[in-house]
Amino acid sequence: MQNLIKNTIAYVQQELEHAESGHDWFHIERVWKLSKKIAEDQECNLLVVELGALLHDIADSKFHNGDEELGPKKAAEFLKAQQVTQEIISQVTHIIKNISFKNRNEAPLNKSIELQIVQDADRIDALGAIGIARTFNFGGYKNNPIHLPGEKPKLNQSKEEYKKSNGSSINHFYEKLLLLKDMMNTQKGKEIASKRHQYMEDFLKEFFSEWEAEK
Ligand code: ADP
Ligand code: NI
Repeated sequence: MQNLIKNTIAYVQQELEHAESGHDWFHIERVWKLSKKIAEDQECNLLVVELGALLHDIADSKFHNGDEELGPKKAAEFLKAQQVTQEIISQVTHIIKNISFKNRNEAPLNKSIELQIVQDADRIDALGAIGIARTFNFGGYKNNPIHLPGEKPKLNQSKEEYKKSNGSSINHFYEKLLLLKDMMNTQKGKEIASKRHQYMEDFLKEFFSEWEAEK
């Protein structure tokens, strides 16, 4: 098992070598660590949690022309070559297929506990100081504006609208990040998310106050 985790790390590092820095190996490493932390309180298959965390962004559809089949397919091929059983493979691909925020309206109601854990960890990495850094990095990567006063956040966007969106990074807080704390699956996830949520609220308050030269 230790070898399998080691091999998976090496594979992911190699595949994500040129990834945008909010979706690179270090994002995966943070999600892996958070997943293990959340899993401590849960009865679950830790191997599935670890493999799911390590492989969840192996081929993120937003960097592959919207192809949502590629990630689960690549992960399954890799795991098969590592002699992992079909049962474990299907539990891991269940995580990769259903983890994403943009697919939240299509996700199955019977999420496995392992999916719930990795999904919480992935969402937590979108929050707090790290979440702020990732958001402005991604916005910069897409050449989106930092803030457009007067442009209202678009709530309840469809999946297609959300994917196409090139709104401001500040609006991304209202369209996604501030909604995440109420979408956590686990108790530990809720606790961590609520602290990081407060930090983002404080950041936005300071941001708008500086924007208006109030300080
Ligand atoms: P998922 O991969 O779970 O569907 P997203 O692609 O929406 O999630 O987002 C992953 C991270 O990328 C977000 O948490 C955020 O930091 C950044 N991001 C995504 N879309 C935007 C955007 N329009 N503006 C700024 N940052 C974004
Ligand atoms: Ni991720």
